[in-house]
Order: sequence, then C-alpha cells, then structure tokens
Amino acid sequence: MENILELVRERRSVRTFDGKDIGGELKEKLVSFMEKIENPYGIPVEFRLLEPEEYKLTSAVITGAPLYIGAKSARTEHMEEAFGFSFEALVLYAQSLGLGTTWLGGTMDRKAFEKAMELNDGEIMPCVSPVGFPAAKMSLRETLMRKGIKADKRLSFGEVFFDGSFDTPLTEDRAGALAEPLEAVRLAPSAVNKQPWRAVVSRNSVHFYEKRSRGYVSDATGDLQKIDVGIAMCHFALTAEELGLSPVLTVGDPGISCEEDTQYVATFSVG
Ligand SMILES: Cc1cc2nc3c(=O)[nH]c(=O)nc-3n(C[C@H](O)[C@H](O)[C@H](O)COP(=O)(O)O)c2cc1C
Repeated sequence: MENILELVRERRSVRTFDGKDIGGELKEKLVSFMEKIENPYGIPVEFRLLEPEEYKLTSAVITGAPLYIGAKSARTEHMEEAFGFSFEALVLYAQSLGLGTTWLGGTMDRKAFEKAMELNDGEIMPCVSPVGFPAAKMSLRETLMRKGIKADKRLSFGEVFFDGSFDTPLTEDRAGALAEPLEAVRLAPSAVNKQPWRAVVSRNSVHFYEKRSRGYVSDATGDLQKIDVGIAMCHFALTAEELGLSPVLTVGDPGISCEEDTQYVATFSVG
C-alpha cells in the first residue's frame, strides 16, 4: 500500500455496489492480505470473505454487494482497538485495489453473519463490511443517509487535537511532522460519524483518547467508539510509518486532566 493519506482522502463508505463479481485475482489478494494483518496489540483478528447467497447475508443499507468481509476476535481486553486497527488496514488495502467497503456494526442481519463466521462462545464479531466495485451512482437511500449523518463533514484539527493539555488546541504548524498522520486520523470513518477520537501531543508522544457518547456499547459489538479510536490509530500509525516516523504503541495513562466523558486509550511515540 502506498500513500496512505491519499487512500484515506479517497475513501468513503460505499453502500451501492455494481453487483459484479470482483474476480479470482482480487479475491486472492484480499485473502492473502487478511491472513497477514497485524496490529500493535498483538491480538489476532480472523477475517473471512463471505458469499452473501451461501449464508443469506443481507443489510438494509447495502445494495449489489458481491461479497462481504466478516471478522471476529476473542473477547479480551483491548479487543476493540485491535479490531478497529486490523479491519481498517484491510479497508485501506481494499481501497488501494479500487474496491469499496462500509463498516457495519448495526444495520445488518447480525445473526446470519455470526452464523457464517461460526462465532463461538468467548468470541465477538463487532462489525462486518461489504466489498465490491462501487456503482456509478449512489442509491437515493445512500445519498439521503450521507446527508442525515453529515458523512462528508469532519471536526476541525483544533477541535480534536491538543497541545500538551486539553486546554490548548493544536495547530497544524505546531504539529510539524505529525500534521499528516493527525490529518489521517481526522478523516477516519466512525460509527454515525461521531468522530470520538481526541489526541494530546506532548513532545514526541501522541496520547489517544475516546470521547464517549451514550448508546455505543453492547454485548454484540463491544464499545463501537473504542473501535473508532482503533481505526483512527491505524490511520495514524500507517501514515507515520510511511513518513519514517517509526510509531511505537504503549498503554500507560499520562494523567493529563480531561473531562469525565473522555477516557485514555493508548499512546504512540514517534522517532
Ligand atoms: C465502527 C463503525 C460502525 C459503523 N456501522 C454502520 C452501520 O451499521 N450502518 C451504516 O450504514 N454505516 C455504518 N458505519 C459507517 C459510518 O456511518 C461512516 O463511516 C461515517 O458516516 C463517515 O462516512 P464515510 O465513511 O463515508 O467517511 C459505521 C462506521 C464505523 C466506523
């Protein structure tokens, strides 16, 4: 994968597909990438390409998807961050192949997907995604849905990134070499486009936080907004790696004072 920030800028959720098979070569590429995906938590995420007809897989918001990607993981601490990180690496890889995806945590026949994934006790399948070629034109439902969620908008840089403490918004100038990795974070997809990620930059460390809203935690999905932060951290790490910044993940709350709805998640240190 090359030029992560470009892939991040190009990506959008695709809910209307052209219905065409993606062909053996692209399937093989996806499968071999899925088998190699790693995340900095070292928590395995198992991916499968699923044929909708075989398992009667449906989603009320998706039309014409030739395939779905299912994913599951053990129910363990940091599962959400790891799941978000690994799945988003696959989303960006699909984007690099010209394939569209959409993270789905709610609007799908969850039972049918869990069956197709052979979900066992102690495992969780928080989200799935369709994968295929985008249709030339979005369905009316997709267009309306994007408007409803304001899917094309994002919070500004200074609203989500901070300089040393949550009191001081970070400017792109001050962010220096971190400006691009942080821009990739800012543009990430999130459940209902809530953008719950926040980050405090302190010297060469970027402390990631989750600003929680009500209604995003369930037994079936875990904490969807923590998955969002995992997605954001994937964008950060892949962009930083490409720039030669060698990001390293640690988990250790730096004790920066924050609001009650905001929770420390993890820190990336860069070289
Ligand atoms: C964890 C997660 C769960 C999501 N679940 C759904 C879903 O159930 N149905 C849906 O239509 N979109 C879902 N989305 C897609 C978001 O609505 C979308 O990413 C957001 O509105 C931003 O739009 P964009 O992806 O086109 O940039 C989900 C996204 C994430 C990250």
